[in-house]
Amino acid sequence: MLKLPGLIDPHVHLREPGATHKEDFDSGTSAALAGGITTVLAMPNTKPPIFDADTLDLALTTAKQKARCDYGQYLGAGPDNSNWQRNASASARSAGLKMYLDSTFGELRLDDMTLWQPHFENWPKSMPIVAHSESRSMAAAILFAAMHDRPVHIAHISLKEEVLLIKAAKERGIKVTCEVCPHHLFLSKEDIPAISHGHPGRGEVRPRLATPQDVDSLWKNLDVIDCFATDHAPHTIEEKDSENPPPGFPGLETILPLLLTAVSESRLTIPDLIAKMYTNPKRIFNLPDQPETWVEVDENETYEIKAAEQFTRCNWTPFEGWKVKGRVRKVVLRGRTAFEDGTVQVEAGYGQNVRG
Ligand code: DOR
Ligand code: ZN
Repeated sequence: MLKLPGLIDPHVHLREPGATHKEDFDSGTSAALAGGITTVLAMPNTKPPIFDADTLDLALTTAKQKARCDYGQYLGAGPDNSNWQRNASASARSAGLKMYLDSTFGELRLDDMTLWQPHFENWPKSMPIVAHSESRSMAAAILFAAMHDRPVHIAHISLKEEVLLIKAAKERGIKVTCEVCPHHLFLSKEDIPAISHGHPGRGEVRPRLATPQDVDSLWKNLDVIDCFATDHAPHTIEEKDSENPPPGFPGLETILPLLLTAVSESRLTIPDLIAKMYTNPKRIFNLPDQPETWVEVDENETYEIKAAEQFTRCNWTPFEGWKVKGRVRKVVLRGRTAFEDGTVQVEAGYGQNVRG
């Protein structure tokens, strides 16, 4: 039996408010516990988007009633909400500011670089900024971090050019950190036919699945990567198989078994896994201690991933049928057994807000 700290996922979409048929704070945090994750940071591209004190209250009120693991809620940067000095109480209660600099699912989007500037100026330096920025817009986001001499965390990197750019920026002392998602480490665009089962929408995700060379370069440069994050983006199987499939993959219940399988194949070490799923995200996002919290894993159990056994409401996974080695047996959160042998044991509302 292997004992790990309570793991942190700084990038999840829990779909509440507005799309609870895909997921909500209850099903999403149950999925997190089943995956060995005791803290999730929820993204703001909901309906309505979370972008000010009122919408933040809306999300935090339901989270308080429904979450089973600990949580934080991001605010989203928009064209009209950059006066964060006036909104200081909102920023302090949020997980951080999410800036969508490229197009993806939802309404939040900053099309024009003149709209980035006031957010970089006004968002408190002590609170995280996370950028969805791909390729050249990532280079621009890193320039903004340098100009404002403040930390920026780059979400879901997927390309060789991106990991090499971040490496170079770090070497020059720019305060940039980054995360990579399991689907960009374990899948390339060549896997799309196999995961699609005749429904091309299932392969849709932003950033898109990349080339095998890109995947290789992420593995070769793991030392540049600060965090593993799921970008858990549940859309129902019916939506994925429709005419207009939304991008996104679920990931909360598969990240740890996939990474433990990589450990069993000597592609990753346990200390590195703990650094990227606990120590580094705890520091970057300034998260509180969770006393008496740990995850017990049977690192020798082999099993097959099945969507039918998952807590996420979306009812599919791109890793269906994959054989993995390493199963989460038990999660203890703040002194209580929160998950054991396939069942969630804490009630809705047990989860706490990381910003208190
Ligand atoms: O594939 C994605 N889905 N990428 C994103 O950036 C957003 C996410 C979603 O919310 O569905
Ligand atoms: Zn996301």
